[in-house]
Amino acid sequence: MDKKYILALDQGTTSSRAILFNKAGQIVKVAQKEFTQIYPKAGWVEHDAMEIWGSQSGVAREVLETAGVSPDEVAAIGITNQRETTVVWDKATGKPVYNAIVWQCRRTAAICDDLKAKGLEAYIRDATGLVVDAYFSGTKVKWILDNVEGAREKAEKGELLFGNIDTWLVWNLTRGAVHVTDYSNASRTMLYNIGDLKWDDKILAELGIPKSMLPEVKPSSEVYGHTDAKTFGGANIPIAGIAGDQQAALFGQACFEDGMVKNTYGTGCFILMQTGEKRVQSKNGLLTTIAWGVDGKVEYALEGSVFMGGATIQWLRDELKLINDSADSEYFATKVDDTNGVYLVPAFAGLGAPHWDMYARGTMVGLTRGANRNHVIRAALESIAYQSKDVISAMEDDSGIKLAALKVDGGATANNFLMQFQSDILGVEVHRPKVTETTALGAAYLAGLAVGFWQSKNEIVKNWAVDQVFEPAMADADSAKIYKDWVRAVERAKAWEK
Ligand code: G3P
Repeated sequence: MDKKYILALDQGTTSSRAILFNKAGQIVKVAQKEFTQIYPKAGWVEHDAMEIWGSQSGVAREVLETAGVSPDEVAAIGITNQRETTVVWDKATGKPVYNAIVWQCRRTAAICDDLKAKGLEAYIRDATGLVVDAYFSGTKVKWILDNVEGAREKAEKGELLFGNIDTWLVWNLTRGAVHVTDYSNASRTMLYNIGDLKWDDKILAELGIPKSMLPEVKPSSEVYGHTDAKTFGGANIPIAGIAGDQQAALFGQACFEDGMVKNTYGTGCFILMQTGEKRVQSKNGLLTTIAWGVDGKVEYALEGSVFMGGATIQWLRDELKLINDSADSEYFATKVDDTNGVYLVPAFAGLGAPHWDMYARGTMVGLTRGANRNHVIRAALESIAYQSKDVISAMEDDSGIKLAALKVDGGATANNFLMQFQSDILGVEVHRPKVTETTALGAAYLAGLAVGFWQSKNEIVKNWAVDQVFEPAMADADSAKIYKDWVRAVERAKAWEK
């Protein structure tokens, strides 16, 4: 049968999605299912790994059925995933020994403090490109081994396997035949040396993690194995691409030249700058991460995350009840000419890159008697753009590369006011592509390249089509002035919680 499609599996933090793409990189069909978020204690976040597998395989079958596409018409499957989320399962039974510990979960903060107290911060930073934080997988694996009865003994006997969600899905899709991950996901574990491209023995020993649990690390684009006949009605589809979701989005945005930057506006904002084969060490609190391993080489990226992006608009909607629908924020923000001097710093969960202040808290400054609802809504939208600029300025400083244009994706990019303001405050063009599902698209491209569905990255560049370009329309002096006041506002938010 003619292989006309690539199937991307996009396993995110709140939903499992399956998207079918054609050769032009266009979406043919989407299926999506939300799954349960488990909060056993304050600051703890878990997922049921079996529910993740069930929902993900379910939407994969559903998208083919609703599109009227036979599994035999699928050239390959590409996988992209919420990163860092940690699953440990029994090799023999395939059963997880504990719920998946989600990237957002803070339960291992004390293990991180301990690593810092032992003076390991610089070593870990150098080896893995990461700051020591509960965000990453390494301390989550240790927690499971320390806290689940019998887990450590079993792990030491080689009976348990660890994987992030990509690994878990591939293992299940192949019915336990393949235990792999790709460079981009490995680089988020805090266990992987991103220079030597090896699991780091010293960190593994420190955390007491047996090497036998770890998946084999592979390039992001190659045939890792085939789906077991039972998953797709007898078809053995090649699984041919894997990347963490933010790196996949960078790939889907065709950011192939050094210095190209994408920003995904979701709950938070994830900003990545491609730095090519150069591994840039940040002086400004950004992470160094592997972008992907493709065409026989590993390329790197600088990454900065803003904790409160779209979530700030949800806060206006759900807590302040200033709007009924997130999309209305654009309408109200444009009813006023400016914020009337109001700044909102949405440090509700502290501040991420480049500030890394766990004790910062949400702050509103500049209020006067004339400040109204529209000013606050506008200030909330502007805060997303300001925070993104904070990260991008740090990236420019670290890399010595001046941003030429910003490629954007994610839900909040539908907000034209936000996109225009982002362009104004950065002083560069903002490019919104036609396909904003760039995460899934990136995974599809990685898989398609491995099986010859697409021939080269050039084809991907050609497929990338712009929907709208936002050009900076604000005078430099004006944007500099309002940004200066933003910086002052951020200082007020810092170190609030003692
Ligand atoms: O690092 C976490 C990130 O991969 C999660 O992405 O889109 O599932 O919120 P998302």
